[in-house]
Amino acid sequence: MHIAVPAETNPGELRVSITPDSVARLVKAGHVVRVQRGAGTRAGFPDTAYESAGATLADAAGVYEGAQLVCRVQPPSGDEIVAMPRGATLLSLLQPGRNSTLLDALAKHEITALALELVPRITRAQSMDVLSSQSTVAGYKAVLIGASALPKFLPMLTTAAGNVSPAKVFVIGAGVAGLQAIATARRLGGVVSAFDVRPAAREQVLSLGATFVANDLVAAGAETAGGYARAQSEDEAARTRAALANHIKDVDLVVTTAQIPGRPAPRLITADMVASMRPGAVIVDLAAESGGNCDLTLAGETVQSGNVTIIGPVNVPATVPFHASQMFGKNILALVTQLSAKDGALTLDADPEITGAMTVVRDGAVVTRS
Ligand code: NAI
Repeated sequence: MHIAVPAETNPGELRVSITPDSVARLVKAGHVVRVQRGAGTRAGFPDTAYESAGATLADAAGVYEGAQLVCRVQPPSGDEIVAMPRGATLLSLLQPGRNSTLLDALAKHEITALALELVPRITRAQSMDVLSSQSTVAGYKAVLIGASALPKFLPMLTTAAGNVSPAKVFVIGAGVAGLQAIATARRLGGVVSAFDVRPAAREQVLSLGATFVANDLVAAGAETAGGYARAQSEDEAARTRAALANHIKDVDLVVTTAQIPGRPAPRLITADMVASMRPGAVIVDLAAESGGNCDLTLAGETVQSGNVTIIGPVNVPATVPFHASQMFGKNILALVTQLSAKDGALTLDADPEITGAMTVVRDGAVVTRS
């Protein structure tokens, strides 16, 4: 299979879709990998590393030569779509629910497109799941963002200049990002508490050494068959907000990661709750891009409300581009393996439960817009 790795062109996107370690594995499996010069430079992977791994370097136009599969992080622009050979297959984040025009442009150019957001969260597809790998990065970085905005230390200190109590960190939503946030905050010495609606998440929170808030709000029926949380009823949501309001008054750093796939983020922190928080407290709202878990969050901005800072960071994984790219590349490697027939040719039908679920454009037509 001929695989193209173009450089990312979205502003602020520092990641690359495949790193040299994964290129070496693809080349060993018999694939031809063409990488655009400079594609990995901003993530810390120089052209020489790709060459050593067996890739062919090319310029922006040449990278698509003979490409059957194009691997990207962010969706292509209109010019990048027409630069791809007709009939090629694209593996990329596409946000299909928000990008109808992009899907039409891909269909018009007869590109088959697989949206990386749609990898099903099943055990068999775990190694291909870029949302999970990138959420790991985001959960880690959210704590660092919060810690550096906090006017306090996170750890307890005993010094000649006096003793310092540890900061209290509260993580709301204990999925992939939330669990990594808990682990990171614990490593930095914070006293960590967390909340989620799913019983399995409660067990994981406790196993990381954090305390669990509002045990009585966890319900067996909160989890769907797919392993995700279902949306709460109005009554459940009101009880959740009341429990969180009681706890949030006494914490220094809040990291929120609550999400229900395909829906706006649940609103869990009201303006009144923010007003009740300690002076200098910080909220890092990772759900900012899907509407925010806090009423006052603005995506991509830092809002000051009284003495509380609310940060709504976007594209956090791109701020840790080396390891985010390495993990992304490993996911792509697993997907390419899935898409390779025994003779190495590209096949879309090897596993309909995985690749079928991800296919948003095929044979010149949009298959799904959600
Ligand atoms: P996930 O689905 O693994 O975890 C979300 C958690 O929220 C689940 O454990 C779920 O049970 C919980 N939840 C749902 N409703 C809740 C409620 N009412 N109260 C408490 N918990 C609730 O998702 P993941 O991958 O950890 O991502 C979390 C969020 O972070 C998402 O909104 C995602 O889009 C965002 N994200 C943002 C990034 C950025 O750059 N800003 C990067 C990566 C992820």
